[in-house]
Amino acid sequence: MELTGKVVIVTGGNRGVGLGIARRFLQAGAIVATCSRRNLDPPPAAAGIEGARERSMHRRCNHRHWEEIDTFVKEVVERFGRLDILINNAGGALPLEKVEEVGKVPAEASGIRLGEIDPGYVAPLFHKLVIENNLLGPLWFALRAYRVMATQETGGSIVNISSGASSPAGSPHLVSYGAAKSGLNQMTKSLAVEWGPKVRVNCIALGPFLTENMRRIVLPKDESGQENYFAAVPLHRAGEPEEVGDVCVFLCSKAADYINGATIAMDGGLMPGPLLGFGAL
Ligand SMILES: NC(=O)c1ccc[n+]([C@@H]2O[C@H](COP(=O)([O-])OP(=O)(O)OC[C@H]3O[C@@H](n4cnc5c(N)ncnc54)[C@H](OP(=O)(O)O)[C@@H]3O)[C@@H](O)[C@H]2O)c1
Repeated sequence: MELTGKVVIVTGGNRGVGLGIARRFLQAGAIVATCSRRNLDPPPAAAGIEGARERSMHRRCNHRHWEEIDTFVKEVVERFGRLDILINNAGGALPLEKVEEVGKVPAEASGIRLGEIDPGYVAPLFHKLVIENNLLGPLWFALRAYRVMATQETGGSIVNISSGASSPAGSPHLVSYGAAKSGLNQMTKSLAVEWGPKVRVNCIALGPFLTENMRRIVLPKDESGQENYFAAVPLHRAGEPEEVGDVCVFLCSKAADYINGATIAMDGGLMPGPLLGFGAL
């Protein structure tokens, strides 16, 4: 899965699943631009990969702010001359109960910074932000990436990172998140139809993946709790961020040239029912 010289954007590529994705693209030889809500230098994804520092950058780009997306995509294209791949990874949410318990959204956990607000308005603001963060931001990123990719002879490829919470079985306690992620799956199909043959659009719906947040906030603290935590997953473990990177690299490589509009479940075989056990999917 060699992608030497391909220019890739990974949103939220500084930590968690996005970091694993960005590192796999760097290892496949690509040029990788990552973004999050802070400028970071050097780019975290390049650490320990030989020669990666020169072919990577990280910028602040809050994808809830459309102008920031425009500025970021423009900078990437000016600097590297093209854009071949977009991985719409940034997003996430906690169950609303946890948010209401603390009266504000813990910023690092949810990826959303509400700050102190009138507790009466936590719920509507939370739902609005979750939809902006998991659906509208990725849609605008895709539209801006497509505008560049459509002008290139070799087109491009987009992968949206969704969740098992998008299951038609519903996602109680993660209502707006599940709705936003199922919207992302639907949007994947629509854009794949609109943009083929120039640009392929696919999606990966994740089960539980071991990120720092998952370890810190969701996993039980005691050893036996941790051992039992993934019992509902037929593979009896959580996934690792780099494993998502492997599937993204595949989907954006020549080997997947006839895969378009697909949402691939990557969840160790987890059925939708036990999703509730995994608080922050
Ligand atoms: N981990 C899982 O088990 C799991 C399961 C199902 C689906 N997913 C999906 O996988 C994706 C990554 O999740 P994760 O577990 O890696 O989450 P994470 O560890 O909380 O990381 C989230 C990443 O997204 C960035 N981000 C969030 N909101 C943003 C915004 N408005 N603008 C720019 N960047 C933003 C964060 O940047 P900052 O550093 O600025 O906060 C961070 O880099 C999400 O779409 C999530 O819904 C994860």
